Amino acid sequence: MDHYAVIGNPVAHSRSPVIHRLFAVATGQEMTYQALLAPRDGFAQTLRAFVGRGGRGANVTLPFKEEAAAIVDRLDPDAGLAGAVNTVVVAADGTLAGFNTDGIGLIADLRNGLGVQLAGARILMLGAGGAARGAIGPLLGAGCALLALCNRTPVRAAAVAAVFADRRVTVIDGSDVRDPFDLIINATSASLTGATVALPPRAIGAESTFYDMVYGDAARASLETALSLGARVVSDGLGMLVEQAAAAFALWRGVRPDTKAVIAELRAQIEESAL
Ligand code: ATR
Repeated sequence: MDHYAVIGNPVAHSRSPVIHRLFAVATGQEMTYQALLAPRDGFAQTLRAFVGRGGRGANVTLPFKEEAAAIVDRLDPDAGLAGAVNTVVVAADGTLAGFNTDGIGLIADLRNGLGVQLAGARILMLGAGGAARGAIGPLLGAGCALLALCNRTPVRAAAVAAVFADRRVTVIDGSDVRDPFDLIINATSASLTGATVALPPRAIGAESTFYDMVYGDAARASLETALSLGARVVSDGLGMLVEQAAAAFALWRGVRPDTKAVIAELRAQIEESAL
């Protein structure tokens, strides 16, 4: 039996065990998947101990994604640009390879879940932390025409733009936005701290899609604001969560699970728990 885990702090709220168990059943894979709480200063030890007990792979969540990128033996190029690892693959010789499937998950949900056309799209990214960084490489790879970064602390956005060094990546102040974007992505952690991110009103028009990377209750306020500003389509990040898990599962097991049914099951669970 192969063992997998998600390592984080906190981690009890993680939906990854539910998602991966559903994938395992659907694809007939013999495996276990558990949530592992690591002390704030004990990520590397927790991961090594898990590998020592036969762990074949791990997901990494807050606040350890950057540290994971620093300690793996091999880093996938996308994870290197993101500066963050959310998926560790343990090779047969026990060495660790780090990947970042968050951006792949976002692209999959935008394309397949929402039918967003990314080639040629003008995109506004709110935020310049790890979540934003993980998405930029895959969005550029999908052929977007423009990727404007808008962050509360502009100097951070400028530093991220410098890492990608692509003429399509620009930094913009919210008050300078004049025209609607095709796609606006909220990659800030504002809602997780009980705050609401300021959406530049002119960024949203009748053809705009607004996507929030957080899901459920945490996304409610921003989605309502985007709708009131006239967005055509709004979505939370539940699909991204399931799609990034599917990409991790494929790296581990060589099988890509179907995501539609799992997204629907999770949506039902979330709605039930909100009642
Ligand atoms: P993550 O890994 O989730 O991206 P992070 O690296 O701490 O977390 O980045 C959080 C992002 O959310 C940053 O872009 C942050 O803006 P600053 O760079 O100005 O700190 C943004 N953010 C957090 N709270 C916010 C708020 N209340 N309003 C606007 N942006 C906020």
